[in-house]
Amino acid sequence: MLLFLVAVTLLQTDSSLGGLPYYNGFYYNHVMNDKGNGEREIHFNGIKLVVETPGDPIFTHRGANATLSCQYHYDPPLDKPRKIRIKWSKLREDSTKDQDVLVAVGLKHRSFGDFSGRTHLQQDSSGDVSLVIRDLRLHDGGKYRCEVIDGLEDESGIVDLELRGVVFPYQPHHGRYVLNFHEAKKTCDEQDAVIASFEQLFKSWEEGLDWCNAGWLADGTVQYPITLSREPCGGRAMAPGIRSYGERHKSLHRFDVFCFSSYLKGEVYYLSQAQKFTLEEAKQACQDDKAEIAKVGQLYSAWQFHKLDHCNAGWLADGSVRYPIVSPRPKCGPPEPGVRSFGFPKHGKFGAYCYKMN
Ligand SMILES: *[C@@H]1O[C@H](CO)[C@@H](O)[C@H](O)[C@H]1NC(C)=O
Repeated sequence: MLLFLVAVTLLQTDSSLGGLPYYNGFYYNHVMNDKGNGEREIHFNGIKLVVETPGDPIFTHRGANATLSCQYHYDPPLDKPRKIRIKWSKLREDSTKDQDVLVAVGLKHRSFGDFSGRTHLQQDSSGDVSLVIRDLRLHDGGKYRCEVIDGLEDESGIVDLELRGVVFPYQPHHGRYVLNFHEAKKTCDEQDAVIASFEQLFKSWEEGLDWCNAGWLADGTVQYPITLSREPCGGRAMAPGIRSYGERHKSLHRFDVFCFSSYLKGEVYYLSQAQKFTLEEAKQACQDDKAEIAKVGQLYSAWQFHKLDHCNAGWLADGSVRYPIVSPRPKCGPPEPGVRSFGFPKHGKFGAYCYKMN
């Protein structure tokens, strides 16, 4: 009885929206068409709605198309198809409210926000309600819920979409531990990257990332990855791992940030000319070459995905000077591969890393 009352309340909210066919992603007509609890139970006695999603994550990268598999069926099977609603949403890391991705009733569907124009349901066979997302963006990584609603039953499954990429610690030009959470997110965006998730940081730690400055993550926690235990980084007695400061106040507390970048269309290259540049000259030189000065996330992406390797320091858009090394060699920094940084030099002339879209 309780379920029925809840449905009626929501339906009233629905009609108050004037003409919208649904509210909050749910379709309640089936419930209302039934004459009461008893009949519904007789009608649906023993029939189960089953929703299946893959247990393993989907691994892909920025720019690719992804199909998030989701199938449903009734057990035992029904003779006649029932009108159902499909709702895809994306779980948010730092809040409880999910983000709407797409809702569909019959052949009609609607996608929301950043997803509109690049998502549809696959519907290859009966019961296939897989979600296709084209031209994946950095923000698209994460967990998605596939929800099948037929008025009486509501079942869902989760699909985990993971972008392959690279995590890098970031400290802005004005120093260490100056970013609150909101500024940290913005800072990553400015580097053509996004604030990293815990899973992304963890994966990078498994691949050897070691960084002794704490940084914000997408879930609002502050953590740092240590592969070699040592005194100033949590102590020698502590096993290697991700050290956590836990959740911090998003406006008041200040740290560095871990950013994440994935595959990049286009090309990052070192602009070699006889003379070296100041920062302003470097920006101009890239423009003269029909390109733009590269961002930090773009340099990391080129290093990771295109194996960019250059033992020459060059300016980047944020005023830092760096160079990418895939095959470590003498006079090109430490014995591990990585993007080397000279920080934010106030004086001096260097080369330039430019980015061309193609
Ligand atoms: C993604 O799908 C669109 C439309 O189906 C297609 O034109 C495009 O080439 C695909 N992109 C990739 C990277 O496969």
